[in-house]
Amino acid sequence: MLRVDFVTLFPEMVIGAASHSILKRAAASGLVEFAASNPRDFTTDRHRTVDDAPYGGGPGMVMMAGPLAAALDSVLGDSTGAAVVFPDPVAPLFTQTDAASLAQSQRIVFVCGHYEGIDQRVRDLYATHAFSIGDYVLTGGELPALVMADAVVRLLPGALGSADSLAADSYAEGLLTAPQYTRPEDFRGCAVPDLLTSGDHEAVRRWRRRQALALTRRLRSDLFARAHLEPGDLDMLSSLTRADD
Ligand code: ADE
Repeated sequence: MLRVDFVTLFPEMVIGAASHSILKRAAASGLVEFAASNPRDFTTDRHRTVDDAPYGGGPGMVMMAGPLAAALDSVLGDSTGAAVVFPDPVAPLFTQTDAASLAQSQRIVFVCGHYEGIDQRVRDLYATHAFSIGDYVLTGGELPALVMADAVVRLLPGALGSADSLAADSYAEGLLTAPQYTRPEDFRGCAVPDLLTSGDHEAVRRWRRRQALALTRRLRSDLFARAHLEPGDLDMLSSLTRADD
């Protein structure tokens, strides 16, 4: 069982989002447990203050070390080995490899910042990981934490209906995946590619592989440069007409 904690000023936001669909089912079947803890509950002053102006001046407010550290101490107790993850736009990008590695943990604690950031000393004292989810700035760490939690939980054995779904993921092999279709065969005059309805499984497999290679080369040359290509992949690509690519 994986335990996922969110330290956040907005506990309802994360618990609400984790209470639907596959995350809800994973929790109901005992694969994961979600909890949230609010630093405001660990303040000691009458106003329950969690933020203050930055040393050195500048706009906005910074989350104070005290309430956050107290919340983290309470969440962590005497457990050792928890992954303590700080969502942060100033951090390496979170990837499928990071999700797979976090999915091996027993405990993950996401520390969600707000305002202009978190007192750096909390990060220095507690962080085992810091990740950005993309090159844009969000208003807080809750959505990034949920994005990462979702990417991790769906990798837990049994979380998805079929283990094959994981193998078929985009990024699983370093390639984007081919488009999918379901019934009807004709939708507003657009047909499903013939091969997919041919019943020829080997031809379908080759079509999907060719699509994956072509899409990755066209949309994500960075992934393509690092992809593990199979024998025959380059021939498959060179047989593509420009119209397919
Ligand atoms: N907090 C604000 N923006 C973020 C981002 N892009 N990734 C992770 N945490 C963030």
